[in-house]
Amino acid sequence: MNDFVFSYPTKVYFGKGSAKKALNGELGAYKKIMLAYGGGSVKKNGIYDEIMSLLSDKEVIEFSGIMSNPTYKKVQEGARLAKENNVDFILAVGGGSVIDCCKVVAAQAKTDEDLWEMEFTNKRFPDKWIPMGAVVTASGTGSEMNAGAVITNEDKKIKAGMFAAYADFAVLDPYYTLSVPFKQVISGAFDTLSHCMETYFGTPRETYISDEINEAVMRNTIRNIRALIKDPNDIEARSELMWDSAMAENGLLKLGKVTDFQAHQIEHQLGAYTDCNHGQGLAVIHPVLYSHIYKDGVSKFARFAKEVWNINDKDRDIDLAAAGINKLTEFIKEIGLPASFREMGINDDSCFRAVADSCNITAGCCKKLTRDEIFEILNECY
Ligand code: NZQ
Ligand code: ZN
Repeated sequence: MNDFVFSYPTKVYFGKGSAKKALNGELGAYKKIMLAYGGGSVKKNGIYDEIMSLLSDKEVIEFSGIMSNPTYKKVQEGARLAKENNVDFILAVGGGSVIDCCKVVAAQAKTDEDLWEMEFTNKRFPDKWIPMGAVVTASGTGSEMNAGAVITNEDKKIKAGMFAAYADFAVLDPYYTLSVPFKQVISGAFDTLSHCMETYFGTPRETYISDEINEAVMRNTIRNIRALIKDPNDIEARSELMWDSAMAENGLLKLGKVTDFQAHQIEHQLGAYTDCNHGQGLAVIHPVLYSHIYKDGVSKFARFAKEVWNINDKDRDIDLAAAGINKLTEFIKEIGLPASFREMGINDDSCFRAVADSCNITAGCCKKLTRDEIFEILNECY
């Protein structure tokens, strides 16, 4: 296990009605709140009205229209608005896209330096941000409990993770997810499973406490995706998945590990070129990537097969490892996620070379991929 320091800055309010508890309890000191949201789902499902009524004694500045896969231009718009209005708190109400955008807005509004240049050219990270809270309306990314934000820089054609801000508090009310289109619910839940796998297959290959908790989160995620498909109104299953999502990204599973996240790096760069759905892209990439790398990480893939998929009828680790990847592939099909880029609506492969040449190659992956292999993987996914 690698050395680590662990502390956590985000307070979680979980359960029905927790927005009221959180906003009443946490916002006393703030007067000017920037209320940020996406394309308008919050207005249809009543969440906007509920939040506005909880902010009735505040001056509210609205920042709306945050798109899925938020752009750096949108970040700059939000930062300008926050600065011009001198807001003293940002409340992000949405899925991963809204929360990510707000994290970077919060940090960008505190400096005149261009944050992208600061992080990617000068290799420095912001240490100041406008305090913020996250009300999660669609779960899966776990963005509410980490300081990362995935932003698409359209000019540079890069979708990349930025370090930005921690939310002071997160509201996780499973009832808020009832209006999320079901396809998005499943793709969000698969994103959670992906975060677990990306952590599990990192290095060192065996980190028992983190990996054993991780196996439990993976099994729980799989079981509750199945339960939710049987009954989309199963609020217990939604609750479990919402907490699985936070657990996968609150740092606990990562303690003592260097994570893999190679599938994410490929998916993010594909997103920079195609604006594709994050969870769906991961569902296509994971099995193909794993079939390319598992021979370099046989014992861990074998353990994954046994502990997560309950496969016990193979003697050799290599056969177990392959069977685990087959189970993952079958599961993706079973829950209605796409098996190819074409199925998810990507009908042009002309960007694949550029995606392969520009995506990050991670340190935690059991096999260090070449750019040609990534190109091959993308073509197999097509
Ligand atoms: O825009 P609105 O109207 O809010 O609609 C959204 C959007 O169309 C809708 N939605 C959200 N809550 C809803 C709802 N519709 C009805 N009822 C509700 N209660 O759902 C759609 C998808 O939302 P979005 O936020 O884009 O999805 P998701 O949560 O999957 O976030 C995706 C983004 O997060 C990044 C991804 O790359 C992508 O940009 N990620 C962030 C991570 C992080 N910060 O830790 C980790 C992840 O690996 C991921 O990369
Ligand atoms: Zn993800």
